[in-house]
Amino acid sequence: MTAQTGKKNIIAGNWKMNLGLKASEALALTLRGLSDNLKKSEIWIAPSAIALAATTQALKGSAIRVGSQNVCAQKAGAFTGEVSVAMLQEIAVSFALVGHSERRSLYAESIDQCVARAFGAIEQGLDVVFCVGESLSERESGSTFEVVSAQLKPLLEALKNNGSVRSLVIAYEPVWAIGTGKVATTEQIAETHRDIHQLLSQYTTPETVVPILYGGSVTADNFASIIALEHVSGALVGGASLLYEKFAPLLEISEL
Ligand code: 13P
Repeated sequence: MTAQTGKKNIIAGNWKMNLGLKASEALALTLRGLSDNLKKSEIWIAPSAIALAATTQALKGSAIRVGSQNVCAQKAGAFTGEVSVAMLQEIAVSFALVGHSERRSLYAESIDQCVARAFGAIEQGLDVVFCVGESLSERESGSTFEVVSAQLKPLLEALKNNGSVRSLVIAYEPVWAIGTGKVATTEQIAETHRDIHQLLSQYTTPETVVPILYGGSVTADNFASIIALEHVSGALVGGASLLYEKFAPLLEISEL
C-alpha cells in the first residue's frame, strides 16, 4: 500500500493512552460522518491497541484510516507486550506510528529500534508515520537538523533499495512542543520541513511525495498558519484530536 493517496492533507489524531474501547468507537463514529464531505483532507486516527478492532469495525467502508501507536519489527514469537503487523492487518489496521518521542524518551526506544520497527512494518505492508524531533536543549544548541537527520537517515538508507519509501509519512514533532501548548514558530516549522524535504529528495524521485506532517500543540488557533507552509502536508495531533469539537475545526481549516 502507498501512503500517498493523492495530494490531500493528512490530519492524523494520535489518541495516545486516552479513550477506552467504547469512547474510541463513539468518537470514530462521529468522525465518520465528517469524512464523507472531505475533498482536500484525509483523516487518520491512532487509537489505543485495545480499541483498534472496534474502531476499524466502526469505520468499515469509510475513508478514515486506522493505525496502531506502535508495531513490532518481528513477525511472531517471544516478544511479550508487542503487536505484529499480521495481527494489525487481520483487523484492517493500515498504518502504524513509529518512533514517537514518548516511545523514544519514556520507553528508551533507540534510533536502531525505531528504524527496525518502521522497516519491518513497511516490508510487511503497513504504511508508517515515522516521528522525529529534537529536544529543547538540542533546539537551543542549534542541532535540530542534525538530530532529525540522525533519526531519519538510517531508515531512508534501509528503504532505498526497494522503493518502499512510498509507504512512509514523516511527522516532525519538536519534543518541547508536545503537550506543552508551546507550538513551534512558523519559521522554525518551515525551516525544519524544508530541511527534511531536502534530505528526502536525496532518496526519492521528483514524483515521489513523502508527506511531512507537523505535530506539537496543534489547535484550531494555530493550524491555519502551519498548513499554509510549504512542505507541510498535514498534522499529527494529540490533545486536540480527543474531542470532536476540537478536531473538526482542523479539518475545516485544511479544507479551505
Ligand atoms: P499534542 O498535540 O497534545 O501536543 O501532541 C502531539 C503529539 O505528540 C502527537 O503525536
